[in-house]
Amino acid sequence: MVSRTVVRGGLVITAADEIHADVLVEDGRIAALAAHGSPTADSWAAAADRTLDATGKYVIPGGVDAHTHLDFPFGGTASSDTFETGTRAAAWGGTTTIVDFAVQSRGASLRAGLDTWHAKSDAQCAIDYAFHMILSDVNEHTLKEMDLLVAEGVTSFKLFTAYPGVFYSDDGQILRAMQRCADNGGLVMMHAENGIAIDVLAEQALAAGRTDPRYHGEVRHVLLEAEATHRTIQLARVAGAPLYVVHVSAEEAVAEITQARDKGLNVFGETCPQYLFLSTDNLAEPDFEGAKYVCSTPLRPREHQAALWRGLRTNDLQVVSTDHCPFCFKGQKELGRGDFTKIPNGMPGIENRMDLLHQGVVEGRISRRRWIEIACATPARMFGLYPKKGTIAPGADADLVIYDPAAEQTVSARTHHMNVDYSAYEGKQLTGRVETVLSRGELVIDRREFTGHAGHGQYIPRGTCQYLI
Ligand code: URP
Ligand code: ZN
Ligand code: ZN
Ligand code: ZN
Repeated sequence: MVSRTVVRGGLVITAADEIHADVLVEDGRIAALAAHGSPTADSWAAAADRTLDATGKYVIPGGVDAHTHLDFPFGGTASSDTFETGTRAAAWGGTTTIVDFAVQSRGASLRAGLDTWHAKSDAQCAIDYAFHMILSDVNEHTLKEMDLLVAEGVTSFKLFTAYPGVFYSDDGQILRAMQRCADNGGLVMMHAENGIAIDVLAEQALAAGRTDPRYHGEVRHVLLEAEATHRTIQLARVAGAPLYVVHVSAEEAVAEITQARDKGLNVFGETCPQYLFLSTDNLAEPDFEGAKYVCSTPLRPREHQAALWRGLRTNDLQVVSTDHCPFCFKGQKELGRGDFTKIPNGMPGIENRMDLLHQGVVEGRISRRRWIEIACATPARMFGLYPKKGTIAPGADADLVIYDPAAEQTVSARTHHMNVDYSAYEGKQLTGRVETVLSRGELVIDRREFTGHAGHGQYIPRGTCQYLI
């Protein structure tokens, strides 16, 4: 392995700074930064084993995608990317760390779920990875195990007010899990939609013959997201626990989070590229094409996008993750022809997040530093990975992306690397593209060639949330 690399000539962008600097990488970590052309930088170049030219490009921290579902059993099938294919696609898109969701099965222990997810991912990943735990059975044993998981680096727990009979927890179970986290330092992640009410509306829609994908969006009503967001924020207040609301899609849900934050509460919100760029128009595409866009929370009318971008600017929303949960159109999404409730919920996007958010920079919606903050630094802080991940600073892992801000690309399933037979952004023109990616100093993408390998990625035990007010 090459031990001394210099990344020369680029504009180094972090959540805090933009500096014209060379970056010295030693033994997989960032050793130092020095101004272009300074005697220090020139001495590095002379002694380097390898020099990467970033002239005219950005040098940014590798992306941290804090919400992925690889090899995830759901909706009677399993998401189509394995840990091998999904992390390779992530690397292509400039993401160098993922936090995936291990699942507690009903009636089983957290330990058994975690063991299963380690077995799926061990020696498979191209980039580093960590786990959250999905709680689907909150009982006395689960609560005790939560303490053990926090101590060993699984420090966040996803609970659902949606999907009755699958992952759903009632308010009492949610409150107990929150109380436990208030004690052990864990972070509750909430899928906030009123699943009981949604199931009633879904049953009524089907009975009335409304079976198309667009009704998925209609029955998962905006107000049922807002209600569950409001309710679970109150439960977190009662428990004295912080709360991270995942995949926020509705303006009314952002308003609930904003109100909580205005009170000074530790309430945080995540959104995803699909809610920033896609809408119910996609869900209404004819010939069952809308199934490609079925995910929960659902896509919303286009008007909601402005509220999400505003939330990202005002820090009422702090993180953009993908919720990458791909299902092929053929054979998987098709399970729901004639009954939208049987369409597996989830969309692909692990490869597209950094580029789509850069489009927000190009369009003047967010600054370059904010791009890095919401895609790299804050997810790392939120989930106890900072400053190992999420920034470019001495001592941090050398997870670096050389990003060409001027390159033009057209997104397509024909050229993407995710193991799924469609792209949710087919034909979309984007400005900016990942050119080269280092993971702990090792080239995983070299000038748009994959040079990584399965098993390079290491499992990372995480610390607790570093983002509390
Ligand atoms: O539709 C989605 N989001 N599928 C993945 C599971 C979840 O709720 O995040
Ligand atoms: Zn969810
Ligand atoms: Zn998810
Ligand atoms: Zn390696």
